[in-house]
Amino acid sequence: MRIYRGTIVHTKSFDEFESFENGFLAVAEDGKIIGVGNDYDSWLSSNKFSPAELAEVRLSENQFLMPGFVDCHIHAPQYAQYGLGLDMPLLDWLNTYTFPLEAKFSDQSYALKVYKSVVEASIRCGTTLASYFATNNLESTLILAREAVRQGQRALIGKVCSNCNSPDYYVETTEESAKATETFVSELQGLKSPLVLPTITPRFALSCSKELLKELGDIAKRLDVHVQSHISENLAEVEVVKGIFKTSYAGAYDEAGLLTKKTVMAHGVHLEDEEIALLKQRATSIAHCPASNTMLNSGLCDVQRLISAGVTVGLGTDVSGGNSVSIQDALLRALDVSKHLEFFKKQNIRGTGEAKNPDPKYVQLKYKQAFYLATLGGAKALSLDHLTGNFMLGKEFDALLVDVSVVEEPVRPLNVNELVEKFIYTGNDRNIVEVFVAGKRVKKPESN
Ligand code: GUN
Ligand code: FE
Repeated sequence: MRIYRGTIVHTKSFDEFESFENGFLAVAEDGKIIGVGNDYDSWLSSNKFSPAELAEVRLSENQFLMPGFVDCHIHAPQYAQYGLGLDMPLLDWLNTYTFPLEAKFSDQSYALKVYKSVVEASIRCGTTLASYFATNNLESTLILAREAVRQGQRALIGKVCSNCNSPDYYVETTEESAKATETFVSELQGLKSPLVLPTITPRFALSCSKELLKELGDIAKRLDVHVQSHISENLAEVEVVKGIFKTSYAGAYDEAGLLTKKTVMAHGVHLEDEEIALLKQRATSIAHCPASNTMLNSGLCDVQRLISAGVTVGLGTDVSGGNSVSIQDALLRALDVSKHLEFFKKQNIRGTGEAKNPDPKYVQLKYKQAFYLATLGGAKALSLDHLTGNFMLGKEFDALLVDVSVVEEPVRPLNVNELVEKFIYTGNDRNIVEVFVAGKRVKKPESN
């Protein structure tokens, strides 16, 4: 059993951040958390462990343990164009760069190369749980799943489905899409990995017919599996979807039975009040992807509005619409967007007249709330919070050992809150020195 002693932080809810300054955390051989808190001596005396069983790890004054990051929305194949082609809005971006790229994943050796890199990069940045979109190609999507298993990341993996409004070189028939999805689910279940699970993945309402959405909704229900897609990301897209489905964006998914408590929808930037109420009613979550919303100029997503309506929200990198694979970066960008929104809600913008829907009481996200979104919020959004997201007893040890002194020693000693602030506002993947999934170390400290 491993015992960590030092600063330990996690959240219990959106507004409950908990820290243990001279704390301890005990991890059993099976990777589960069996002790956490301030009072190590009384925990030890109430449990009968022989000293030989205990391996103690002492954290330095610049280190702390936190739950692993959860990336609720990432496109694994798009890592091949990471940081490239970010000069267009969504629909042009898809047609110009993204569909041609994803079509290349019928080549399995190319797929293996890209998928190996993206899982490595995601782990390096501290993501212990990721919900991945792959491509339409079944075989290469299985390669991604095997790669996540091999590297030890917890993951949901989806074979992307699209049967219309797509280029000829990257489209399936309804039958092909539904059949490959069922095969994919059974192949993944055949891997018998406790960490990697399948998720039903209609690309977005625009590229799926009503019939295909319904087939996918039926499969999700029959097999009781997760669902992921995109919703209300971009205004042009929303108009086309409404025109085709003659209902709201959320309504299009709901009619197909795709809004479930195991569903996460990316973006939700332009949702109407009735759609938000529907998501809440169905216990469907939103993956907020601030980097992507900025890069593709989709809009400013008001997560406070979603959260106060009772919708569960996690964060997504949305690589490669998003230009960063790091959820620590997404956390910071979520704070940026929220600060901008507060400004717009409160101020009269010079030259543009009154703010639209002014709301003088609007408050921006606090950093501890954003920390929740990046960890427990994400685990809840992916319906895996019974296993991960924080350090409650019995959960799996999915954790990061952060060291804020890696790049530069702080000029003075930092208290618990300051350690976390320093990491959030100035940190990067180099500060994440070790990463654990289910108790197993998946990132080691760099040797200098
Ligand atoms: N909507 C449909 N496909 C995509 C995609 O690949 N990325 C983003 N950001 N939005 C989408
Ligand atoms: Fe996306």
